[in-house]
Amino acid sequence: MIKEISEIRDEALQKIAQADDAQTLKEIKSNYLGRKGRLTQILKGVGSLSPEDKPIVGKLANEVKIAIDNVLKNAEKNILEKKDIITHGIDITLPGRRLSAGHVHPITRISREISRIFSRLGFQVEEGPEVELDFYNFEALNIPKEHPARDMQDTFYISDNIVLRTHTSPIQIRTMEKQKPPLKIIAPGKTYRCDSDVTHTPMFHQVEGLMVDKDITFGDLKGILTLFIHQMFYPEVKLRFRPSFFPFTEPSAEVDMACVMCKGKGCRVCSNTGWLEILGCGLVDPEVFKAVDYDPEEYTGFAFGMGIERIAMLKYGIDDLRLFYDNDIRFLSQF
Ligand code: DAH
Repeated sequence: MIKEISEIRDEALQKIAQADDAQTLKEIKSNYLGRKGRLTQILKGVGSLSPEDKPIVGKLANEVKIAIDNVLKNAEKNILEKKDIITHGIDITLPGRRLSAGHVHPITRISREISRIFSRLGFQVEEGPEVELDFYNFEALNIPKEHPARDMQDTFYISDNIVLRTHTSPIQIRTMEKQKPPLKIIAPGKTYRCDSDVTHTPMFHQVEGLMVDKDITFGDLKGILTLFIHQMFYPEVKLRFRPSFFPFTEPSAEVDMACVMCKGKGCRVCSNTGWLEILGCGLVDPEVFKAVDYDPEEYTGFAFGMGIERIAMLKYGIDDLRLFYDNDIRFLSQF
């Protein structure tokens, strides 16, 4: 009898495992545990067994009954869940949800692109501190104490002697202090001025450039910057070098590019002039060389500086600078 109970158990469990609908499970239940089921019959016969066999067989038959019942309930639950998925429309053949990829910020992109163009021309990328000494931000760049750029309106002073750098030009001084010519560097970074409107944010980005060697001329400056702007915007875009003034360069110039919107015809973006100013530059002032112990009789050099936000606005046709810092994904994901 014990053998028969074991057989019933193995058979029932096997059938349950193969069943894949509720009706089959119902039949299995009735075949084994129902009123006329095989296990029920055995349980009914336990009463007529000998006193020694009765407890052993009775116990085993009961255990098997409980086991079959549990496995049946589980199988029923699984089948119901499966039915629910099918009837309530989870379509397992649908493709998964795509994870949206992050984007490099447009300012970072432009900054990298500028560095890349100059790296190809042999310029090394340099960095400097954003919290800067007066000496590097002003004094060594031939910007004396009474210069308007030092005005409290413009410069964030941390103490009398320490400022948030107002431009990337102090990196010129820091680099020349630790390296001897020849020297070709490009220095991107954050800069700070107390100013905020459609075209100004208190924090913005600049890229500084510096080349020092024997016999560097204004021709070298023009050649390198023309090549850069042609690569950054488009080949053959018209440029003009307009005389200007910076304390740390002599002579100095500002570079204008034919308006990217109207191609020089005149529009709102270029205030009907046909030109857009994009950078400041010049030949390094001998006073700057003296501050870093370079001999101005032996070496000459050129420097330039530009606002990265401005380049990005012109390149992408953006008319409000503040969009770069609003962290609006709809804006940022376009780049
Ligand atoms: N530092 C200047 C500014 O912030 C930009 C500049 C102009 C940098 C001329 C230069 C330069 O290196 O030669 O407005």
